[in-house]
Amino acid sequence: MKYNIIKDTNPRLRKVSEPVSLPLSKEDEETIEFMLTYIIKSTDEQYAAKHNIRAGVGLAAPQLGILKRMFIVYIPGQENGDIIYQLVNPEIIEESDKLIAIEAGEGCLSVDKPHPGLAHRHYSIKMKAYDYHTKEDVVIEASGYEAIVLQHEFDHLNGVLFYDRIDPINPDKKKDGEVLI
Ligand code: NI
Repeated sequence: MKYNIIKDTNPRLRKVSEPVSLPLSKEDEETIEFMLTYIIKSTDEQYAAKHNIRAGVGLAAPQLGILKRMFIVYIPGQENGDIIYQLVNPEIIEESDKLIAIEAGEGCLSVDKPHPGLAHRHYSIKMKAYDYHTKEDVVIEASGYEAIVLQHEFDHLNGVLFYDRIDPINPDKKKDGEVLI
């Protein structure tokens, strides 16, 4: 396979990624298409077992060692259907003061060791980007789980991993007014 998922033992994952020129080059198109295909396949239990891969809901280009500001999200079976984004040059333009965290902790395809604790996130965000999936400039208003996934993937573009957001002293301590899901 041309692409490989790198782990957090690789310092490349800690770098800040570069903006991507639009329209996308053939190579960048290929990368962002691969990322979505990979994650969709990862949610197929048989395929995942056969290829010994974990299921994910998102993947960012730096996780392939490609330091470009692109990531994809695939959250199937939501209220309004499947959530699919293939975002290029995303920016967070608004974020709530209210916080949210996943009680059972977050996971990441680049992180093998467990890191228990609350990864604190903004409960809702507004994100601006070019979406290769719809071929449009978009402003996404997300809250809850969707907002968490978008922030997790966005963090990868800045070399940040979910466990950086866990308080090492009080990993399970909820912040004031924080929602746990
Ligand atoms: Ni991740």
